[in-house]
Amino acid sequence: MPKQLLRRLIAIVKRPLAIFKSQKRIRKDGQEAARQDYDERISGLYEKKDYLDAYSDHTDLRVEEDPHEAIGGMWEEIGTLQYEFLLKKGLKPSHTLLDIGCGTLRAGRYFIKYLNPGGYTGLDISSKAIQYAKELVVTEGLTDKRPSLLHNPGKNLKFDDFHGEKFDYLLAHSVFTHLKPEHITECFEYAKRLMKPDSKFFFTFKEASRFSETGLKGFAYPFAFFAELAERFGYNLINVSHEYLHPKGQRMVLLSKQKISPGNMGDSSAGMA
Ligand SMILES: C[S@@+](CC[C@H](N)C(=O)[O-])C[C@H]1O[C@@H](n2cnc3c(N)ncnc32)[C@H](O)[C@@H]1O
Repeated sequence: MPKQLLRRLIAIVKRPLAIFKSQKRIRKDGQEAARQDYDERISGLYEKKDYLDAYSDHTDLRVEEDPHEAIGGMWEEIGTLQYEFLLKKGLKPSHTLLDIGCGTLRAGRYFIKYLNPGGYTGLDISSKAIQYAKELVVTEGLTDKRPSLLHNPGKNLKFDDFHGEKFDYLLAHSVFTHLKPEHITECFEYAKRLMKPDSKFFFTFKEASRFSETGLKGFAYPFAFFAELAERFGYNLINVSHEYLHPKGQRMVLLSKQKISPGNMGDSSAGMA
């Protein structure tokens, strides 16, 4: 075969491959540019707005993209983990529970199903999370359980809208991991309003030897930070992390008004911090 013809044939075979490769490169470049735009948009939020405004806008965007990933993912695993833990800690169907930062009901859907009608209240600063949560209650056939799903537009943790209502259990799971010291301090100061003498308030946090920011919306704390707040606001604090094996290593703490003995936590295996 003449060389010229052979070169033409090779060129014809190579062309679709070259087109395919360049289309793939364009797609990849496009995805990278879109990702970069998105990242810039998100970091712009945190630069321009107050932290909680930026964080709730960010959560809203994430809920629109993927309501299960928006609140940290591991939807089934971490949902059942929270649920089974509170049951182990004595939660009964007749109890009331306030899920502070309930997100899209990763655990809330289990609690709603388990508790008597009206027993579950979820509170969140993300309006999209609350909207999704309300839809989920309908799709999961839980309307009869009449959960209260409340948007917290003021974003503070003073709990003004509860007008004296008190809960047997309170939970703030993967919430303090996204809050700054002043927000957690506010929560400690005002959570008492929602607690009976024997209420149990469980919360998780990410532990570090000293306060550190772990990303745009991530914060880690030493246990001593919470111990100092508990002393300042007159709570009892028990570290129950050894009983809560969170897959990403979050720690679990029980806050109460009254001193709770390990034997009075729904089981007998908890230890004092
Ligand atoms: C990582 S998600 C965890 C959701 C849920 N607790 C869980 O573990 O499945 C944290 C949630 O806390 C909410 N949140 C943060 N600060 C809040 C505040 N001050 N009041 C109410 N919700 C808050 C966020 O909007 C977000 O939905």
